[in-house]
Amino acid sequence: MTPRPIARITGLGACLPPTVVTNADFEKSLDTSDQWIVERTGIRERRIAGPDLTLAEMCRVASTKALAQANLSAKDLDVIILGTVTPDRRLPATACDLQALLGATNAAAFDISAACPGFVYGLAIARGFIASGQANRILVLGAEKLSTVTDSTDRSTAVLFGDGAGGVVVEPADDSGRGILSSVLGADGTLADLLYIPGGGSADPVSEKVVRERSHFIKMAGREVFKAAVLAMSRACDGALAQAGITADQIDLLVPHQANIRIIEATAKHAGIPMDKVMVNVDRFGNTSAATIPLALDQGVAEGRIKPGSLLLLVTFGAGFTWGSVVVRW
Ligand code: COA
Repeated sequence: MTPRPIARITGLGACLPPTVVTNADFEKSLDTSDQWIVERTGIRERRIAGPDLTLAEMCRVASTKALAQANLSAKDLDVIILGTVTPDRRLPATACDLQALLGATNAAAFDISAACPGFVYGLAIARGFIASGQANRILVLGAEKLSTVTDSTDRSTAVLFGDGAGGVVVEPADDSGRGILSSVLGADGTLADLLYIPGGGSADPVSEKVVRERSHFIKMAGREVFKAAVLAMSRACDGALAQAGITADQIDLLVPHQANIRIIEATAKHAGIPMDKVMVNVDRFGNTSAATIPLALDQGVAEGRIKPGSLLLLVTFGAGFTWGSVVVRW
């Protein structure tokens, strides 16, 4: 039986930086080609936020749209949860900078570090706050400036990542049946070193050595990550569908993490969802980590593919490894 939702999404907003970097741009600086990038990843271009566009500012733009849609003011918010691995500063949380920018004076604010699943982890936390009665109006964001942790000289990662921000307002569900129906989260820390930033943390603080060795940038064993992503995302979909008491054929739209078109296709195939019911924008924005799902939701709504009552399956995977899946009746 489908559970009664406790929390529902009442507002959505996104922010994409204006600068577009195409595959042809990488052909000038790296030993790569548009053909290789498109065939292996499906990516054609990505957006990059320059030094003047902070993560907090991208979040402010996305949040303002989400709040307007929810008919709320910033002062109505109880909590701000930001999923990111690229905060503007190591201290404080960028969620606090955002709280100040918005004037959300009544809101608690914190970042969560769950890599690409940061937004889905945030949704699950928000649902838990609402279920426990601790908070009622929660802003959940996924936002990244991955350009700041991507090594522009490493062709195996440079072409993959982009910047962007998106977020939703989560409030208690009403009687309409719309809302978050299930959520499954997971992690496997034994595989952490397949996708990580080795230097610049407290284990190996920023130093001349870290910068010389370029260990403050993302390192990834692409092929191993690929296999783990397909497996984890497939299992997470199964778990979220089972918990919601629904079958894949009832899903109107699969909204997967946008890392690689081949991972998306394999996940959809496992779930038994045809590609015409799958949201894809990795070609335009690359992998924006925690931002991919809210950006895809925003595009889905704008294109009329997500309407009130649509049944959505969100699924994601990232460094940690971490993964998550959520079924939402929009
Ligand atoms: N241009 C041209 N060649 C490239 C390249 C690029 N941008 N990047 C890597 N290559 C080369 C490699 O050096 C390798 O060459 P070699 O065979 O001479 O050693 C060859 O292409 C194949 O590399 P491989 O890593 O096996 O390719 P792949 O088919 O696995 O594709 C990824 C690479 C990164 C696109 C793919 O593994 C992937 O998407 N992995 C998951 C990434 C991901 O999702 N990360 C985030 C999770 S949130």
